[in-house]
Amino acid sequence: MRFLVTAGPTREPIDPVRYLSNRSSGKMGYAIAEAGLEAGHEVILISGPVSLAPPRRAKLVSVSTSDEMFDAVHRHTDNCDVCVLCAAVADYKPPKVSPVKIKKHAENFSLELVPTRDILDSLGHRQNRKFLVVGFAAETNELEQNAAKKLRAKNCDIVVANDARLGMESDENELLILFRNGETKRISRAPKEILARDLVKIFSKFATIMFDKKNETITERN
Ligand code: CTP
Repeated sequence: MRFLVTAGPTREPIDPVRYLSNRSSGKMGYAIAEAGLEAGHEVILISGPVSLAPPRRAKLVSVSTSDEMFDAVHRHTDNCDVCVLCAAVADYKPPKVSPVKIKKHAENFSLELVPTRDILDSLGHRQNRKFLVVGFAAETNELEQNAAKKLRAKNCDIVVANDARLGMESDENELLILFRNGETKRISRAPKEILARDLVKIFSKFATIMFDKKNETITERN
């Protein structure tokens, strides 16, 4: 199968020296990309700025802003079987980037922010899509309810939920997986590499069931 994985944070520039971003390390997305390759799938990894070495056999597309990530995802979704949107995309950005460094003044300063485009929502609602859409939900409270809301609103097939306070920069995580049909599955605390292997198995199984995809590896296809 062909997997598309997004990972890491995005950076939304304010002026030539400043940006808005978040603490995402990219570890979960990179581990999923690695596990996908290990299972014999082809992987396109669309990554925001992280300090990780990309898996050698993945096709890496490096991006910085949410707009760049949106465009890269839509450029590469055709012929994909599974899209895993693991990136911590900024929800807001400045409406325009100041061409010069913003100077300090004695008064309070407010920054106007406008919503970014939601990549997961745009994929989930693609007409007649033939690929599995997996979203991630990092929550600090009401994990299951908030994740279920995201699954429905963004028309995902699967949402992988985790406690943002536990998972963000850590090497381990604990997951709650929600499926479109209302079923759930818990995976207890483990290193991200181990979790990623389980997730890849679940995603390829569901892509096979939902879209009648052949669960073949690239080697088998060639
Ligand atoms: N996501 C996306 N594009 C955005 C924002 C989020 O594709 N502009 C995706 C993320 O990659 C993740 C999912 O949406 O798969 C959920 O992201 P999250 O930040 O947890 O949720 P939001 O929808 O942004 O809602 P909130 O921040 O209010 O929890």
